[in-house]
Amino acid sequence: MREELLAALRLQLDWGVDEALEDAPIDRFRAPAPVPVAAPPPELAQPAIRAAPAAPLPPGLPPAVLAAGSRAAAAQDLAALRQAIAETDSPLRDTATNLVFADGVAESGLMMIGEAPGADEDRLGRPFVGLSGQLLDRMMASIGLERSRNFYLTNILPWRPPGNRTPTDGEITLFLPFLLRHIALVRPRHIVLLGGTPAKSLLRAKEGITRLRGRWHQMETGEGKLPALPTLHPAYLLRSPAAKREAWMDLVLLRRTLDGDVASG
Ligand code: URA
Repeated sequence: MREELLAALRLQLDWGVDEALEDAPIDRFRAPAPVPVAAPPPELAQPAIRAAPAAPLPPGLPPAVLAAGSRAAAAQDLAALRQAIAETDSPLRDTATNLVFADGVAESGLMMIGEAPGADEDRLGRPFVGLSGQLLDRMMASIGLERSRNFYLTNILPWRPPGNRTPTDGEITLFLPFLLRHIALVRPRHIVLLGGTPAKSLLRAKEGITRLRGRWHQMETGEGKLPALPTLHPAYLLRSPAAKREAWMDLVLLRRTLDGDVASG
């Protein structure tokens, strides 16, 4: 027990936590509240994820995006959606090695959306398995959430952009219908947006991530609004460790929201 407490303290110091945010301590060893639903790892072909009605796309989009929209709308479960993405022509598909669809527990109620796969993700076909993914897992563990039980992960883009460059607007627009369908099929109660690319494109915001983070937004999914919390991308935290303090505050907000102590909208 003493070692666990020291480890938790070391993590906080490492993260730059240098002041108490609450008057009363939060007991993080208390049995987790309703959010975490113990569930087996996702089998994409499982019928547990029900088909949801597809949202209509706005008119005037390029034909490739309209075609992507129809293909996405036709997908009645996650396996079909994955297949539809795999069959969609894109220069990214030609340069990537593996399609990176999702990981974690689709039924958990918490969906986290990153930017795009990197080299490790491309090699293994799973999101957030490289250094930034390992940091993300440690961050989530610090608020009692595990990828194998409590959250689900995907990206704006399912293919790695060459050289890890930032996704272009055209790439984001092409794959957006698939992401919105992904959200409709998974039906999360809360969404976390990891970094500026998902935050700006999904919240249709002009501000950068440093202005958007730290509070819940109402994200339009095409089928209604969902609470979305933008936060700093773990890859940014690896480059700028001083920003872990802000990330920690976002995690506390997420935990308190999941516990029902704070409203998300
Ligand atoms: N960064 C992301 O945004 N997504 C990944 O899957 C890995 C790194």
